[in-house]
Amino acid sequence: MTLIITKYFEVDDMHRLSVAKDHGAYSSLEKLFQMSPSDVVDEVGKSKHVGRGGAGFPVWNKWNFIPPNSDKPVHLIVNADESEPGTFKDRAILERDPHLLIEGMMVAAYALGVKKIFVYFRGEYRFQWKRFIEALTQAEDEGLFSSEAFKCDVIVHRGGGAYICGEETALIRSIEGERGLPKEKPPFPVTEGLFGAHTVIHNVETLCSLPFIISNGADAFASIGTEKSKGTKLISISGHVESPGVYEVVMGTPVASVLATHAGGTLGGRRLKAVVPGGTSVPVLNSEEALGARIDFESMKEAGSLLGSGGMMVLDESACTVRFLSDVARFYANESCGQCTPCREGTGWIKKILNGIESGAGSDRDVQLLVDVAEGIKGKSICPLADSLVVSVQSFVRKFREEFKQHVKLGCCPFN
Ligand SMILES: Cc1cc2nc3c(=O)[nH]c(=O)nc-3n(C[C@H](O)[C@H](O)[C@H](O)COP(=O)(O)O)c2cc1C
Repeated sequence: MTLIITKYFEVDDMHRLSVAKDHGAYSSLEKLFQMSPSDVVDEVGKSKHVGRGGAGFPVWNKWNFIPPNSDKPVHLIVNADESEPGTFKDRAILERDPHLLIEGMMVAAYALGVKKIFVYFRGEYRFQWKRFIEALTQAEDEGLFSSEAFKCDVIVHRGGGAYICGEETALIRSIEGERGLPKEKPPFPVTEGLFGAHTVIHNVETLCSLPFIISNGADAFASIGTEKSKGTKLISISGHVESPGVYEVVMGTPVASVLATHAGGTLGGRRLKAVVPGGTSVPVLNSEEALGARIDFESMKEAGSLLGSGGMMVLDESACTVRFLSDVARFYANESCGQCTPCREGTGWIKKILNGIESGAGSDRDVQLLVDVAEGIKGKSICPLADSLVVSVQSFVRKFREEFKQHVKLGCCPFN
């Protein structure tokens, strides 16, 4: 299979420029600088490349929102905040092949006429940040950001450990020196973003496919994957599997084959109960739904979930779904920025109800109350943080209601 992102993950010291160059790093640049910026935009459009940050928004569409004759600058932000539970794929890129990301940043910046790139780093990714800085410094010292063909500044910003700062408007505020609170959209960042400039924000993995598209052409990229999902996807697998880790798969690969081959099957060969396929913001799939789904945007939707960030969490028959959901609720309640009342109060309330049910102190009424509170806060906040918990609650209760009832009936967790 064609590996676009992880090809050199096993090579030692790929963050060193000399090693990376020996393995083809920056080889797309010669061709890139022979193309005009608008040709690069067209080529990326032809590739049908879609963002990997969770929302599945086509890259070209985002780029095309920049008004052609605007006198405002265009900034590029690299979203390396990766804090969604179960998601650790960008971390692997930052650690094992940071030059691939830097090359991808250069392609996007050249195409869009960007003179300032901001990289927003998850605060806890200390080791990855050190590696990235070492790689970036070597690339800058080599003159890659100050040549005739391409001049650009790169500003690296480390976050303070808030999940909400991965949301693009909160991230922008955080770089601007304010508290990371999401803003109403429109205006979208591409119209009015960082310091008022047109701002294109991309996930780390999204940018890493750009050098392949330039070197091999849009058609080569578009020939990989399915009708609507092109290229490959990084999946970070955790939970009850024999070999958790980060794997690159061609779009359209069956979940069953990813679990059996890459992940080595469920732990101890136990029966699969559920899969959360794209980080905690997407609906859970029961075993039948998961085993019938494929890793691509359209198949995940048909199965009743979303590809999201590709953070796949696997639960086998020994897992308590109430406990899992309770942990998810604790995360969202902690990470709510507190700006919108339904999110601030609702996520905390859901956490409390779930704690009660999980510890055996809940009643039948609580299971319905859980569903009602989730329905009550749905769609009532500025950003999708609360709605992410809502989809988890609704899908878990719908698919595993018996387990919630059992907790109530027994007055304890049946899985302890
Ligand atoms: C609460 C929240 C957290 C988010 N965290 C991240 C993140 O850590 N990394 C990321 O790339 N996108 C994250 N996003 C999505 C970004 O807002 C944005 O859509 C994404 O960076 C766009 O990248 P793409 O166009 O390359 O997909 C988050 C969204 C929300 C609502």
